[in-house]
Amino acid sequence: PRPLVIDTDPGIDDALAILLALASPEVDLRLVTTTHGNVSLAQTTENALRVLHLAGRSDVPVAAGATDSLVFPQPERAGHVHGATGLGGVDLPPSPAAVDPRPAVVALAELLLASEEPVTVAAIGPWTNVALLLATYPEAAERIDRLVLMGGSAARGGNVTAAAEFNVWSDPEAAARVLGSTVPTVLVGLDVTLPTVLDEDGVARFASAGPVGKTAAAILQQYLDHARTSYGTTGVVVHDALALTEAIVPGTLGTVRRDVVVDTTLGPARGQTLVDRRTVSDSPTAVDVAETVDSPAAVEFLVSRLADLATR
Ligand code: BDR
Ligand code: CA
Repeated sequence: PRPLVIDTDPGIDDALAILLALASPEVDLRLVTTTHGNVSLAQTTENALRVLHLAGRSDVPVAAGATDSLVFPQPERAGHVHGATGLGGVDLPPSPAAVDPRPAVVALAELLLASEEPVTVAAIGPWTNVALLLATYPEAAERIDRLVLMGGSAARGGNVTAAAEFNVWSDPEAAARVLGSTVPTVLVGLDVTLPTVLDEDGVARFASAGPVGKTAAAILQQYLDHARTSYGTTGVVVHDALALTEAIVPGTLGTVRRDVVVDTTLGPARGQTLVDRRTVSDSPTAVDVAETVDSPAAVEFLVSRLADLATR
């Protein structure tokens, strides 16, 4: 299996993404780093520990990262979407494991420099930690084999503002730094996540497979309720799980190399990922932008893997 690091802000869909990685034999989850984002850093870190413990994997180290964005305070958290504590009001049992004493960027740099195999990094919260890694340990960042980012949007506009997707909106300066780097990067944005809807039948399939599936479904309930009341839809978009699917099975998504810039001005388009879709780019800083997805296949992958994890 390929070594994998998840940088995350659990977060309901983050929790599902972590469970998906643990359910997948293609990857070996070596480290979880946490960031501010959906809720506070203290809460995302606690949630990461508890989600790993839920799956019987408290052996995976969790290192805490940035408490806030690089330049401006994070404009808003997402407790209204994920519940005040980030996991849909579900109180998971505490993990026996303690948080890793190293700052996230140190843990990440050490892992990257020590690994003999190519490491995939999936960043599914605001990208503050990745930007800090690039700034402080560039030689380690260069060793990232594939950086799979959840965030941004090419043609769909935003989900927190008309222009911006939540992870980029949370730290646009970090996003600009990350997307301006030469690290091989796949951008999994709203173009592919929004059409990929996990419906209640899918949730029921892993919910009935075993206790872990039942708990995952309970965590998702808040997300389902929010989708119903806010958008009138009956399913949920588990953005981060789709990014993990691409990290686990490269090529799941149809990507095109594009030049992407982030709007870091303080106007109405702040946090927009401006994707130049006129041409395919050969620039060293170009990004593989996910533009097409087989949504039913992606949902089936998630549901069947979670059901399988629940029966273990
Ligand atoms: C992103 O925002 C967060 O609320 C989700 O966890 C996901 O990473 C989607 O815009
Ligand atoms: Ca997230």
